[in-house]
This record gives sequence, C-alpha cells and structure tokens, in this order.
Amino acid sequence: MNTKKLGFLASVLFASLMFSTHANAAKVYQVATDAAYAPFESLNSKKEVVGFSVDILEAIAQKTGMKIKFINTPWEGIFATLPNGDRDMVISSVTITPERKQSMDFSEPYFEAKQLIAVNKKSKVSKFTDLKTIKVGVQTGTTGDEVIQKLQGKTSPNIKRFESTPLAIKELENGGVDAVVADNGVVVNFVSNNPKSNLKIIDDATFAKEYYGIAVKKGNKALIEQINKGLAAIKADGTYEKIYTKYFGK
Ligand code: ARG
Repeated sequence: MNTKKLGFLASVLFASLMFSTHANAAKVYQVATDAAYAPFESLNSKKEVVGFSVDILEAIAQKTGMKIKFINTPWEGIFATLPNGDRDMVISSVTITPERKQSMDFSEPYFEAKQLIAVNKKSKVSKFTDLKTIKVGVQTGTTGDEVIQKLQGKTSPNIKRFESTPLAIKELENGGVDAVVADNGVVVNFVSNNPKSNLKIIDDATFAKEYYGIAVKKGNKALIEQINKGLAAIKADGTYEKIYTKYFGK
C-alpha cells in the first residue's frame, strides 16, 4: 500500500472515531415516566413533565453531563421499554422490589415512601385490615396493588385496578370504590390540594418502608454507575436537599 492510500485510510479512521465519540457525547437518554403522579411526575399546563423526580434526574444529568429527554409513558408496560431499548431509564416513583430487581437494575434510592389509605371522611375504616372485604382501588401493578393482594388475595373481586392513580382516586370520590391504597406523597398531595373531595388519610403501622430508584436495562452497569455518581454528588452539595424542600418542605 502506498503512503497516499495509507494516509487516506488513516483519515477515514480518524473521522469515524471522531464521529463515534461525538455521537456518544450527544446521546440523548430517553427517560420513561408515567406523568400522572404529582408531586413526583406530572404534566404542567404546557404538557411538560415536571415534579420532584424530574428535578432530581435533571440535577443528576447536569452533574454528569448526560442529556436526557422525558417521555410520558403509560405505567402498564413501562418496564418493558427498557429491554426493548425504547427507553434508557425509568424514573416514575418506582419502588425498588426484589421481584423487579430480577428484570432490571436500580440506582441507589432517591426517595423513601410508604403506602397510605385514602377513604371518604365518613368512612369507618381506621386501619389496613378494615379493607379486607371492601372495594379498594389501586393503580395496576403498583406496590399498592401488591399490598392489597396480600390482604384480600390475588384474585379478589374487590380489588379494582386502574391505569393511573388519579383514576382510582376519581372512582373513590364517585363512590365506586371504598378506599384507595397508594404512595404517601401522592395521596397527601391529592387530599391537601382537593379539600372539596371529602377524603381523609389513614396510616397503618404495618406499611413497610419503600425506596424509589431509577431503573435501567438489566446489566447496564455503566449507566447505573453514572446515575449513582450524580446522585451522590447532588446529595453532597445540597442540591438534593434544595429540591426536596421545594416539594416537601423541611
Ligand atoms: N411506588 C409505586 C410502585 O413502584 C407506585 C409508582 C407509580 N408511579 C407512577 N408514576 N404512576 O409500584
């Protein structure tokens, strides 16, 4: 091979290398979120995804130089978007559970949560076991769904499943279900913002602590490491606390 040809080959190699590193830096991570879960993830009047989870991931992205794009994605099927490559991450108030860990990887926790019960103000329900034989609304496939299954049995006809938590709460307001079980932050947010809904909140000591994590495709160690690094950094420099206070007070 003559030097001209070699030079040409070298420049092609160089150009493609440049292109690939550039393309990598410009990668926009597609982030799935079910934006019907205020104050964690919801749509504002301009149909933009906003909320605590959004601010957290945006702060992480800023620290690590990642470019991200939030895509409102229905909860049902949200996890399937990771293995099929449609999405790179799911941030959707997802509780880290042993079952979910079998099919996806999680970041370190970014929020501690638990279940709460919402009922009509006139309801006689005072504890979790009071839900044994009444109609309970949950968002399909959530930890609220799991918790009520343990009490009523998987196939109980009294478990009413909805595609979103707001729909379950709507049904409670309409009297179609007697209670709703969902994450504390969302229940508290709804009840305090909707005083006319006549709902009250019941806590129960048996509800376990849950931790929200950011989910990625199983085996994507590099991405998890990057997210964890960013999360640690925003916890260390006070950004996390600032965002937390913005949504939940001191
Ligand atoms: N933390 C609960 C779970 O992981 C509920 C999450 C629902 N999130 C949402 N954006 N709808 O099952």
